[in-house]
Amino acid sequence: MTLRITVIGCGYLGATHAASMAELGFEVLGLDVDEAKVESLTEARVPFFEPGLEPMLRKHVESGRLQFTTSYAEAAAFGDIHFLCVSTPQRDGELAADLSHLEAAVDSLSPLLDRSCLVVGKSTVPVGTATRLAARIREVAPAAEEARLAWNPEFLREGYAVDDTLHPDRLVFGLPREHDGVAEAALREVYAEPIASGTPVVLADLATAELAKAAANSFLATKISFINAMAELCEATGGDVAVLADAIGHDPRIGRKFLNAGLGFGGGCLPKDIRGFMARAGELGAGDALTFLREVDAINERRRKRVVDMAADLVDRPWPSAKVAVLGAAFKPDSDDIRDSPALNVAGRLHLFGAAVTVHDPQAMENARRSWPTLRYADSVVEACRGAHVVLVLTEWQQFTEVDPGMLAEVVAVPSVVDGRNCLDPEVWRAAGWAYRALGRP
Ligand code: UGA
Repeated sequence: MTLRITVIGCGYLGATHAASMAELGFEVLGLDVDEAKVESLTEARVPFFEPGLEPMLRKHVESGRLQFTTSYAEAAAFGDIHFLCVSTPQRDGELAADLSHLEAAVDSLSPLLDRSCLVVGKSTVPVGTATRLAARIREVAPAAEEARLAWNPEFLREGYAVDDTLHPDRLVFGLPREHDGVAEAALREVYAEPIASGTPVVLADLATAELAKAAANSFLATKISFINAMAELCEATGGDVAVLADAIGHDPRIGRKFLNAGLGFGGGCLPKDIRGFMARAGELGAGDALTFLREVDAINERRRKRVVDMAADLVDRPWPSAKVAVLGAAFKPDSDDIRDSPALNVAGRLHLFGAAVTVHDPQAMENARRSWPTLRYADSVVEACRGAHVVLVLTEWQQFTEVDPGMLAEVVAVPSVVDGRNCLDPEVWRAAGWAYRALGRP
């Protein structure tokens, strides 16, 4: 009999996971406490932008293989495997992660688990959480020892979520140190297809599986801040950080990926994960091990100020009489996610200085408008740039990198541009008459 899978929490991670599990052939029930989200997903509408997700969702909703609910009782009765995909954001006013959604999910589900099943955590959590939750489930669930817990951290990137789920680089199965093999067998069954096509499986204890996620995101954040620190040195010496990244990136031990200098990292993961990791290390008495992440965070924060300063250098008038075009609101291209968006952070600062800031983004306008209602918004690049004294390219959408600088020079008041993502060709823009500035480049 095919496994029946529930996915608890249907945000970016959960909705993608649910549709992908259906794509792999399982019967899937997605659960979310947000009725509007459940209604939208039931009608095969993805409530956020993720390339490739909607057609896959529609296919399986229409075939009946994928359904959604708000009822834990239904989920508990349905599932052989329950994936926990709820968000673990940063706590207000603290570095640590807020586990309230995760704990609420476990508390709602556990008392209803009355037969053999596996709960699989995918959310990013402070190390130690899985062991604690496993004990709680065992204690509360009528199925007791037959309600098992495993941790299977998620490494998907927004914008590539479908592909990353169906063809992951690796699968990490975190299992209690002494286990009877049932949970491992179930996970191997779930991921039989990617495993058969060569995806490596790393077996780990629960703590190591939790650490794997925090360590991966910390490494990626460190890599970005490293190249951004090099950009600061390039600015001090007249070097070119884009060439430097190529020069070191050809070394396969270093690798060119995630060495794009610019405005730095944002989003719902990297910033809060490095902070949560530092907070947890401190609680464990191992804070010294991660003090370098404070520097990683500080370098990243400095990028935002640097872009504002660069724009100020280019603008020949006080901010209250300046028009600024900001191209980009999402924290990265191919996403409508504006959580901790570096682009909106810069736009917000300039707005507070009194500039008239007009933002355009191909997908994130609605989200941006909701969170930053005092900024102006334009429906196209040209409209955002009309009459601007400086243009800031802050998210590297293809629509922006392909824009014709000659045409745009006709629209702006002053042809000056800050390339916050090192994504434009300086020679082409300068040849079209633009004053061009970028982080870490002459
Ligand atoms: C990140 C990780 O890459 C995923 O592996 C992980 O699963 C996910 O967090 C998560 O924890 O859920 P994501 O937040 O989608 O994925 O975004 P990334 O592609 O990692 O980009 C993060 C930020 O770094 C973006 O703001 C991007 O513009 C910036 N970045 C990326 C750079 O500034 N330079 C680079 O070279 C690469």
